[in-house]
Amino acid sequence: MKLLVTGGAGFIGSHVVRRLVNNYPKYEIYNLDALTYAGNLENLRDIESASNYSFIKGDINDMDFINSLFTKYKFDGVIHLAAESHVDRSITDPLAFVRTNIIGTVNLLNAAKIIWKDNFDGKRFYHVSTDEVYGSLGQTGLFTESTSYDPNSPYSASKASSDHFVRAYGETYGLPYVITNCSNNYGPHHFPEKLIPLFINNIIQEKPLPVYGDGNYTRDWLFVEDHARAIDLVFHKGKNAETYNIGGFNEWKNIDLVKLLCKIMDAKLGRNNGQSEALITYVKDRPGHDLRYAIDASKINKELGWKPSVTFEEGLEKTIVWFLKNKEWLDNVTSGTYQTYYQNQYK
Ligand code: NAD
Ligand code: DAU
Repeated sequence: MKLLVTGGAGFIGSHVVRRLVNNYPKYEIYNLDALTYAGNLENLRDIESASNYSFIKGDINDMDFINSLFTKYKFDGVIHLAAESHVDRSITDPLAFVRTNIIGTVNLLNAAKIIWKDNFDGKRFYHVSTDEVYGSLGQTGLFTESTSYDPNSPYSASKASSDHFVRAYGETYGLPYVITNCSNNYGPHHFPEKLIPLFINNIIQEKPLPVYGDGNYTRDWLFVEDHARAIDLVFHKGKNAETYNIGGFNEWKNIDLVKLLCKIMDAKLGRNNGQSEALITYVKDRPGHDLRYAIDASKINKELGWKPSVTFEEGLEKTIVWFLKNKEWLDNVTSGTYQTYYQNQYK
């Protein structure tokens, strides 16, 4: 099995690559990543010299490069995670999301179709997507695989579009595919532009904690290693041309989650209870902010036996301990362009 993983130097991708490298010694695993601000080879130091692993620096938007790569390596499978992934950045620069998330995905689909020459035996294109394609829930209900697409941000619109292209390549050309739509991940190596790592970093530095709007927005949180395990399972056992929702059965209002984080961090840092909560600052809301996401993950549970293995308490503990132990990683990713991003986003 020659397996291409795209975006393997990012947050989720690095957990997927590590899992595959450790679990499948006979595979050849190629990690293709452009190393944008979100890509970081530090995330993979522990497995970088494994004999079944290779890193390739490259951009999925470069069609000629992608075609030559597929011609050279003749991959049997693709697990596609490379993307622009942050909603706030999509609001300031939507075209970057159109390029990577839509055009980049179609470049990969096309290259796979050409190299597989319509003989699709043993081949699989796995597209990693998000629950945000379904739009926003009200106070009740869950997203199922048959919920209509209703994306609200440039990020979710670009991911929805890429999902449609994957499905269209399946319907039109018979390209074998699977798609998963997952809820919010958290864990080690999470880039500190997203809620949990940004707030952990700000608590460490005693900086304001910028809660958007009234903080009554709800997300369904899943520990990243449970997502990586689901991806491994769906890649190997998922049915062709199916989509699977993946979620944590773990809904939290942002403000409640932030208060919990503050409490745990105060205890870890030897601060007075309430010290970090005093940093909470309500700021201007995100435009088009989706009220609530929550996944019905019963299909992947019933068909493939997957369910989260880590409770939220365990996952948060592992995450916070990791960030406190890896100050150098955090310092490195928050220097340079991060500072400019932060000033512009939270000025
Ligand atoms: P991330 O931003 O941490 O990582 C993205 C990776 O893709 C980076 O390593 C980056 O360098 C690479 N990349 C970006 N543009 C590229 C390009 N043009 N060519 C090659 N590589 C490029 O993202 P993440 O949070 O790990 O998300 C990974 C995937 O999972 C995305 O497709 C995202 O939509 C999806 N997803 C994320 C979550 C979440 O909570 N983070 C939940 C569900 C689905
Ligand atoms: O649901 C899956 C999606 O989860 C993934 O597809 C995306 O790639 C990932 O970024 C994430 O999107 P969200 O927009 O839900 O995540 P984020 O961490 O940016 O925000 C989580 C919630 O916290 C959301 O309601 C906005 C709020 N928030 C976020 C930030 C960064 C704040 O209140 N303040 C902040 O500074």
